[in-house]
Amino acid sequence: MKIADYKATLSFSNGQPGIEMPVYKGSIGPDVIDIRKLYGQTGMFTYDPGFLSTASCQSAITYIDGDKGELLYRGHPIEQLATQCDFLETCHLLLYGELPNAQKKTEFTSLVTNHTMVHEQMQFFLRGFRRDAHPMAVLTGLIGGLSAFYHDSTDINNAAHREIAAIRLIAKLPTLVAMAFKYSIGQPFMYPKNDLNYAGNFLRMMFGNPCEEYKVNPVLERALDRIFILHADHEQNASTSTVRLCGSSGTNPFAAIAAGVACLWGPAHGGANEACLNMLEDIQKMGGVAKVGEFMSQVKDKNSNVKLMGFGHRVYKNYDPRAKLMQETCNEVLLELGLENDPLFKLAKALEKIALEDDYFVSRKLYPNVDFYSGIVQRAIGIPVNLFTGIFALARTVGWIAQLNEMIGDPEYKIGRPRQLFTGAERREVLALNKR
Ligand code: SDX
Repeated sequence: MKIADYKATLSFSNGQPGIEMPVYKGSIGPDVIDIRKLYGQTGMFTYDPGFLSTASCQSAITYIDGDKGELLYRGHPIEQLATQCDFLETCHLLLYGELPNAQKKTEFTSLVTNHTMVHEQMQFFLRGFRRDAHPMAVLTGLIGGLSAFYHDSTDINNAAHREIAAIRLIAKLPTLVAMAFKYSIGQPFMYPKNDLNYAGNFLRMMFGNPCEEYKVNPVLERALDRIFILHADHEQNASTSTVRLCGSSGTNPFAAIAAGVACLWGPAHGGANEACLNMLEDIQKMGGVAKVGEFMSQVKDKNSNVKLMGFGHRVYKNYDPRAKLMQETCNEVLLELGLENDPLFKLAKALEKIALEDDYFVSRKLYPNVDFYSGIVQRAIGIPVNLFTGIFALARTVGWIAQLNEMIGDPEYKIGRPRQLFTGAERREVLALNKR
C-alpha cells in the first residue's frame, strides 16, 4: 500500500484536541484511514458493528467492485476464469498469485491428485454421527479432525507446513464431502481415482459405487468445476474473516479452516443456497409462479422476517457476476439432463424478473447473488439440498487458505482482538445470598 498525499483529521466539537491520521491508497478501490493510533491518542475506539466501513487487513488476492458488479481473482475477471480456466488453475492463481503455465499446471494437478486420499482411520469419525446429521456438522468435525492426523503440517508459522496443509485441504475436501454424503445414504465410501480430474473424481466419489463402473458426464463435470471456481474466494466475507481471526491466534490451518466451515453454514452466508432452494420449493408447493406476488408481499412486510434468499449482498449493489455465470451453467446442465422445463428454474427466473422491477428491491439495490441459482443446478446434478453448503465449503477452502497464508506472511499481522462500547452495569458489590 502507498501513503496518500493527504491526511484525515479528526476534530471534536467539545474542544477536545483533534488528531491527524495517515491515509493509505491500494492499487484499486477505496483509500483507508489508518486509525491504529486513535485509541492511544484519544482514548476512544471506533464503532462499526458488522464492519461495514472497516478494512481488517490489506490483501492482494480478491477485489470486488460492488457498484460495477465486478469480481477479480488476483486481477483476473471471474467471467474469464470461469470460462477459460479450470478450478485447479484457479487454485494455483489464488495461492501463488499467477495462473500456472502448462508445466506448472501438470505439477500442481499431480500434487493435489496424490493427496486426495484421507487417513484410513478418518472413516471411523463418521460412525460417531447419526446418519441424518447435517453434512456441515459432519464436515466441521472431519476438517477439524484433520489436525489429529497430519502433525507434519500443523505449525502455521512454518511455510513448508502451510504449503503442504494447503495442498492436503484442497485435495481432501472433495473426499470428505463425498464421505459425508455416502455415510448419510448408507452407501460405501468411494476411494478417489487418480486418473480422473478434480471435479470428475468428486462426481464419482459422490455418485459411483463399487458394484459398477462410473462414467463421468463431461457437461456435469465442467459445470461442477465452474461452480467451484465461482465460489473459490470473495474478499473478507464472514467466513474468511473468521478464518483470519482464528488463524491469528497461531492455531493450526485445519482448525482455522474448520472455523470457516462453521461460519459458512449460516443461512445469511453460505447456507443461503440451501435456504434459497427450500424457499423455491415452498413457493412451488404454495402454487408456484401464481403465488409469487403473495410471497413478495411477505418479503416486503418488515414484520414477516421473510427474506428473498439468494438476493442481496453486503458489497454487491449491482448484479453479482457469479449469479449470471451460475444461471448460464444452470441452463447448460438442465438442457443436458433434459430438464429445461424444470419448474423451480422457471420459478426462480420469474422471481428474479419481478424483484428486479419492484421498487423495494431496486431502491435497496438488491440483486441475485451467487446463491440464487446455485441450488437449482446442484439439485439437477443430484446433490442433496443439505449438501449445497458443503460444496460451497469445498470450493471456498482454497480462498480461506490463500487469505490465511497471506495474513501469516504479513509482517504487520497481530492476533485479532477487537474492543467494545460497554453499556452494562458499572462496578457494584456482590450481596450475600440472604440479602439478594
Ligand atoms: C454470501 O460477504 C460475502 O461476500 C458473502 C458471499 C461470499 O461469496 O462469501 O458472497 C456469499 O453469503 C452471499 C449472500 C447470501 N445470503 C443470502 O442470500 C441471504 C439473503 N440476503 C440477506 O440476508 C442480505 O442481503 C445479506 C446478509 C446478504 C446482506 O445483508 P446486509 O448487507 O447487512 O444488508 P441489510 O440486511 O442491511 O439489508 C439492507 C436492506 C434491509 O431493509 P431496510 O432495513 O433498509 O428496510 O435490504 C433488505 C434488508 O431488510 N434486504 C432484503 C434482503 N437482503 C437485504 N430484503 C429481502 N430479501 C433479501 N434477501
